[in-house]
Amino acid sequence: MVKVLAFAGSTRKGSFNQAILDIAVQGARSAGADVTVINLADYPMPLFNQDEEADQGIHENAQAFKTLLTAHDGFLIASPEYNSSYPALLKNVIDWASRSAEGEKPMQAFKGKVAAIMASSPGALGGLRVLVPLRMLLENIGTLVLPNQRAIANVHTLMDDNGQISDARTVQQLQGLAVELVETLQKLKSK
Ligand code: FNR
Repeated sequence: MVKVLAFAGSTRKGSFNQAILDIAVQGARSAGADVTVINLADYPMPLFNQDEEADQGIHENAQAFKTLLTAHDGFLIASPEYNSSYPALLKNVIDWASRSAEGEKPMQAFKGKVAAIMASSPGALGGLRVLVPLRMLLENIGTLVLPNQRAIANVHTLMDDNGQISDARTVQQLQGLAVELVETLQKLKSK
């Protein structure tokens, strides 16, 4: 069974990106993946500083996140767009996890992995612009990013009273992307 790690680049209560991630996760599970969903709020870590890393080694929560990435075949990532790019939160956890301890292969948490990326925003572009730098970042550290991606515009209008999205077209788009990720991973694993 392929293993997928799912996380959002927002720890905000009522995060739209957590909401779209949850829908994608349902799609991945329906396609047969073993999905681990994490909230980055459970992995607080300082802003990366190379001096502190040299003195104290990798932060324990960064190590836990890196271990999770390493143990999964692919990633589902939903990110907010902050000023046309990714939030510092997301960049920070990726920077920490990209570091190699002695004896480890460089970028072992990211190399050879496959990711599906999505964004959402109350704005008309749905956070589309974050997907460009996020794709570039992940590919530069060895993760293949699916050509298809999703940006959910005007996302606040899609939320129901339970804080969830039930709009059929949006659900189908997000789940379709997740299914594509799982099918890609299944093909790669069967080789
Ligand atoms: C934003 N937001 C935003 N939205 C957008 O579509 N394009 C942008 O460039 C930005 N820039 C931006 C910068 C900063 C610092 C903040 C705090 C917010 C709005 C953003 O889409 C909105 O706050 C979302 O609700 C954030 O995602 P979550 O937390 O709901 O997942």
